[in-house]
Amino acid sequence: MSYPYQIKNIEQYHHDYKRSIDDPAEFWSTIAEHFTWKKKWHTTLNWNFSEPKIEWFKGAKLNITENCLDRHLEKFADTPALIWEPNDPDEHHRILTYRKLYEKVCQFSHVLKNNGVKKGDRVCIYMGMIPELAIAVLACARVGAIHSVVFGGFSAQSIADRLYDAQAEYIVTCDGAYRGQKDIPLKSVIDDALIGNRIVKKVIVTTRTRTPVSMIKGRDVWWEDEIKKVETLGLTDFPAEEMDAEDPLFILYTSGSTGKPKGVVHSCAGYMLFTTYTFVNVFQYQQGDIHFCTADIGWITGHSYILYGPLSAGATTLMFEGVPTWPDAGRFWNIIDKFKVNILYTAPTAIRSLMGFGLGPVHGHDLSSLKVLGTVGEPINEEAWHWYDEHIGKKKCPIVDTWWQTETGGILISNLAGITPAKASYATLPLPGVHPILVDENGKEVEGNNVSGNLCIKSPWPSTIRTTYGDHERCKTNYFATYPDLYFTGDGALRDENGFYRITGRVDDVLNVSGHRIGTAEVENAINMHANVVESAVVGYPHDIKGQGIYAFVIYQGSHAQNTHGTAEMIRKDIHQTVSRIIGAIAKPDKIQFVSGLPKTRSGKIMRRILRKIAEGETENLGDISTLLDPGVVEEIKNGKL
Ligand code: PRX
Repeated sequence: MSYPYQIKNIEQYHHDYKRSIDDPAEFWSTIAEHFTWKKKWHTTLNWNFSEPKIEWFKGAKLNITENCLDRHLEKFADTPALIWEPNDPDEHHRILTYRKLYEKVCQFSHVLKNNGVKKGDRVCIYMGMIPELAIAVLACARVGAIHSVVFGGFSAQSIADRLYDAQAEYIVTCDGAYRGQKDIPLKSVIDDALIGNRIVKKVIVTTRTRTPVSMIKGRDVWWEDEIKKVETLGLTDFPAEEMDAEDPLFILYTSGSTGKPKGVVHSCAGYMLFTTYTFVNVFQYQQGDIHFCTADIGWITGHSYILYGPLSAGATTLMFEGVPTWPDAGRFWNIIDKFKVNILYTAPTAIRSLMGFGLGPVHGHDLSSLKVLGTVGEPINEEAWHWYDEHIGKKKCPIVDTWWQTETGGILISNLAGITPAKASYATLPLPGVHPILVDENGKEVEGNNVSGNLCIKSPWPSTIRTTYGDHERCKTNYFATYPDLYFTGDGALRDENGFYRITGRVDDVLNVSGHRIGTAEVENAINMHANVVESAVVGYPHDIKGQGIYAFVIYQGSHAQNTHGTAEMIRKDIHQTVSRIIGAIAKPDKIQFVSGLPKTRSGKIMRRILRKIAEGETENLGDISTLLDPGVVEEIKNGKL
């Protein structure tokens, strides 16, 4: 497959960029010609950000899996689509060619259908990083069901909330998942999540760890048994459901600054186009290259750049079950050497953590197959950027720093590998079709270069968030109401003298811990669930490896038990357990400081600005504290800082 829309040099980038901004409909409809449609569109773009209403390729009919699988069968049937590397390096890897993946997806589509799944139904997928996860996702898309993948690290309570919000009737899961030395009992977590749930009809369970599970009659079925039924009938094809361009493809829950996580909805056609286009252009994928994105499919990066983007481009995508530091910190380098990986796409947190092990684990692995390196999920500091460049890319691989979000579906700002210039810690220039602007607090555009502001996008790109599931108003308030007629990203950015963007981090109450989004309100709610916690306030602070750490200030009830070291540690453990139970281990605070009060205004609002400064180690310039109800509390908090 060659890509007629692949940008070949910087002149073409500027030319295509201009075309895409001058006439987005014309630009994207030309690209859309290179995809498989069951019926063509009558209107390329129809939008307003005030509702918001965003429609791309209205009138078109398609199924994304025909683009990811069927259309490659003629030329690439025997080309590896998915390479799977297991957690344990001594276990055999698996390779699924396009033909094999097609057959497996079709078979599992039958299983879904046989179990009652229909177009538009919501299917929650809670699995480890095994090929069956990819197969389940694609099979949902093939039958027209809306998948909602939940990351394997989330707790039963988090799953229960997501199941309820999506009104999901079906679940696909595993007995357990391997991650490094851990064996996580996923099915048992699902059982807990289903206590009191009256909506879920079927749970399909695949075998991975052979952890004992209890199967509930009539509700739970084994993946393998169901596949056998399909195999007995010799079924290897499944007609792809005809979907509207704007039908929802999936829901993915993500944290915001308020309330519970919201279900970001992406649609079929726009998402397909944009993930494919950005995959091919940002990474400059060439047919035959092996692309290794280290994310988990439970996050948007896995959806867009392990599955949909690469597969729609007919690429070979590598999926890894384990963690970068097990059995040792050379695991990524070992995988790159073993499969002769050409593109490595990972998070700054992973780079920083591997840097900490020194060069020992890197040595002895041949990394010469690498052509392109990428980062995603959080700002990359210069030190990590240079280490990646020097020791992994050996100074011959362009590094793409890709900025985007769950809501954007695909990469919005990034250099294009080897085509547009890179600059350490800068995401640099927008992709064609993306019109970023900076605004001040009042929404006034900040023009020119060498400026900073809040990052907004002026017009829709094909994979713009369409709605938040079940609550369109929330989508409007969160993203389209802060500044009228603009999509607000929640990020701050600066634009340098060349017009390059550098993302400086969130400007709202959302933390970015190891590249994962966590709302401070969400963590506070979880901490407050602890019977003896009166109130808490959570802020972020700079963390050498995770980018941001979670700092919790907690008012604990009762005797001053927390004053003795041993007891304080016990209470901290208890709070950690509560947070793990309510959200998942990823949201556990790194630091918990017990306080007798929180800095509040007279109207009762917590002054997070002050807490943030204290957590960051600032003791002097805390700003005006005279408006506080009890300014004395600040001194106490400062003195007790961890
Ligand atoms: O703050 C930005 C940060 O991650 C946020 C989006 O998080 P999420 O929806 O979980 O998606 C992560 C993977 C796309 C953004 O609002 N972020 C993402 N990429 C970068 C980044 N910050 C700086 N540089 C990046 N390259």
